[in-house]
Amino acid sequence: MNKITTTTLKKMKVAGEKFTCLTAYDASFAIAQEEAGVEVILVGDSLGMVVKGQNSTLSVSMDEMVYHTSNVSRVCQKSLIMSDLPFAADITKEQAYSNSARLIGEGGAHMVKIEGGVTMLETIEFLAQRGVAVCSHLGLLPQSVYKMGGYRIQGRTSQEAEQILNDALELEKAGADIILLECVPTELASRITNSVNIPVIGIGAGADCDAQVLVCYDMLGLTNGTPARFVKNFLAETHSIQDAFKTYVEQVKNSQFPADEHTFN
Ligand code: KIV
Repeated sequence: MNKITTTTLKKMKVAGEKFTCLTAYDASFAIAQEEAGVEVILVGDSLGMVVKGQNSTLSVSMDEMVYHTSNVSRVCQKSLIMSDLPFAADITKEQAYSNSARLIGEGGAHMVKIEGGVTMLETIEFLAQRGVAVCSHLGLLPQSVYKMGGYRIQGRTSQEAEQILNDALELEKAGADIILLECVPTELASRITNSVNIPVIGIGAGADCDAQVLVCYDMLGLTNGTPARFVKNFLAETHSIQDAFKTYVEQVKNSQFPADEHTFN
């Protein structure tokens, strides 16, 4: 069994082969996702909502991230484990490094995810130079929900779109290994995916990204409230959680998901 690494994902981008990512916060979901062929398992700070019942990700602590990451990494043999640096865990580059060391050393993560564009350049460069694999999260930034004025689509004006494209290009230069784009118009996501050499994972960012991610509870129909436009309930058309994960993998790889109804213009 070959482990998925950043090299594997870059080769898949070059080959035009789509890969998949889902969130997991515990061992049982992580095992089922790995068995379904999910290449990247994200221990997201969305656990603040789906596990803790909060209305944002902002209360999630480093201890909680380490705990959930270790529950996932303990059982995974193949998938790449990405783990979120939670709100205010990266105020300085040194703090980002010591908290990344906790996610990797204690939690068993292979990569950390950090929200933010060019304001995070120095941090991304600092981590990359010290051997930490990083995913830069752009577009809708859930940790900035109060500053952004809600969970809304980003990059609709040409000025915002240029900013996000520029963020992606600069972050790649600084050493980011993956870009994650949340809630941006399909055309912008497509431009970014074609402009960078590193893989781009999308959520609410159209079908042209190199990969897709969803929160696992959402794609199993367990959203608390109205699901976002980009969510598809894969359990509705399958008979088990395991089959829902397998169908998600198949539909991302053959470009059936996301369909137009899950994307933004
Ligand atoms: O925390 C999370 O689950 C995420 C996804 C929404 C991409 O960051």
